[in-house]
Amino acid sequence: MIFSTLAKRTFTSTAFNPYKVTVLGACGGIGQPLSLLMKLNEKVTDLRLYDIKNAKGVATDISHIPTNSKVTGFSAEEADGLNNALKESDLVLIPAGVPRKPGMTRDDLFNINAGIVYDLATAAAKNAPNAAILVISNPVNSTVPIVAEVFKKNGVYNSKKLFGVTTLDSIRASRFISEIVKTDPTKETINVIGGHSGITIIPLLSQTKYGSTLTKEQKEALIHRIQFGGDEVVKAKNGGGSATLSMAQAGAKFANAVLSGFAGEKNVIQPSYVDSPLYKKEGIEFFASPVTLGPNGIQEIHPIGEINGEESELLKECKETLKKNIDKGIKFADSKK
Ligand code: NAD
Ligand code: LMR
Repeated sequence: MIFSTLAKRTFTSTAFNPYKVTVLGACGGIGQPLSLLMKLNEKVTDLRLYDIKNAKGVATDISHIPTNSKVTGFSAEEADGLNNALKESDLVLIPAGVPRKPGMTRDDLFNINAGIVYDLATAAAKNAPNAAILVISNPVNSTVPIVAEVFKKNGVYNSKKLFGVTTLDSIRASRFISEIVKTDPTKETINVIGGHSGITIIPLLSQTKYGSTLTKEQKEALIHRIQFGGDEVVKAKNGGGSATLSMAQAGAKFANAVLSGFAGEKNVIQPSYVDSPLYKKEGIEFFASPVTLGPNGIQEIHPIGEINGEESELLKECKETLKKNIDKGIKFADSKK
């Protein structure tokens, strides 16, 4: 009897699970609030913050919060700062890189961010080959394939542990639909598939109960707003960057889901841009769809489900752009061989 109670406790979803989490780019607009939210996550016991500027300052600040984790800052100046930030990490969040200014596309960030992600992925492959890698740096459609190539090059690629974070598209979809239909946004879920930029973001409204109640105009406006929600923020910040706070919330939500999967919680399903079998035959190696998370990372990649004629058209255009974005990332990584 006692044994069965203990055994049950050991395997409940609330069991204490100590995880080491690293944030690369921890002092930026996303990095700081994301690090704060990871400090508040009770699954995290060892939080390592790395940036090319001021990581120790941010780490010291966050370290005073009385939760059950040690916080350490690692700077680029110290020998092995990056390597030590990554050693034996279970989960690595990468929000390092430059954000957009008005008039730019995410692809315009490629020239700077591809190199940053390549270098950070190289250090991760060497120091944290078993960690889940959560890529936030844009353009996500291309930076995720870069990380995959780097891990392959180092002989440690595990497709079940590489994620492009597309959670922001899903949380925007929940918020924007609730503004139209006047419901509680926390209860709204829309399946958003594809990639993370403009027309590659496809919210599947036909799968919701609103697919048949909203007018054609309302649906088109909503789809456009979800696809270009990032531009809305870039425009409003007027040269001051792109989404940071909503992104930190999205990143923390997704990181918590991955840790919950590690901890053995059941039915943890989140959308993510992953190495996916769904459209590989068409040459599309990465695609975002709902993913079940488990102790080893991705447990199952779910198909997109039924879609209507308009959504099929959106999917066709999405695939064309995605293929180019993915090839660009792979070509970049190969050119560094
Ligand atoms: P930011 O400029 O405020 O912060 C970026 C941080 O990265 C800075 O602190 C900088 O010092 C650091 N950095 C730069 N090079 C580095 C390196 N080699 N190693 C470690 N740190 C390094 O930018 P931000 O607003 O936080 O955005 C960061 C990235 O996230 C951008 O590429 C942006 O487009 C992207 N983003 C993605 C999503 C998404 O949904 N996936 C959402 C919002 C923003
Ligand atoms: C977003 O969706 O807000 C991010 O990808 C940042 C951007 O450049 O729009």
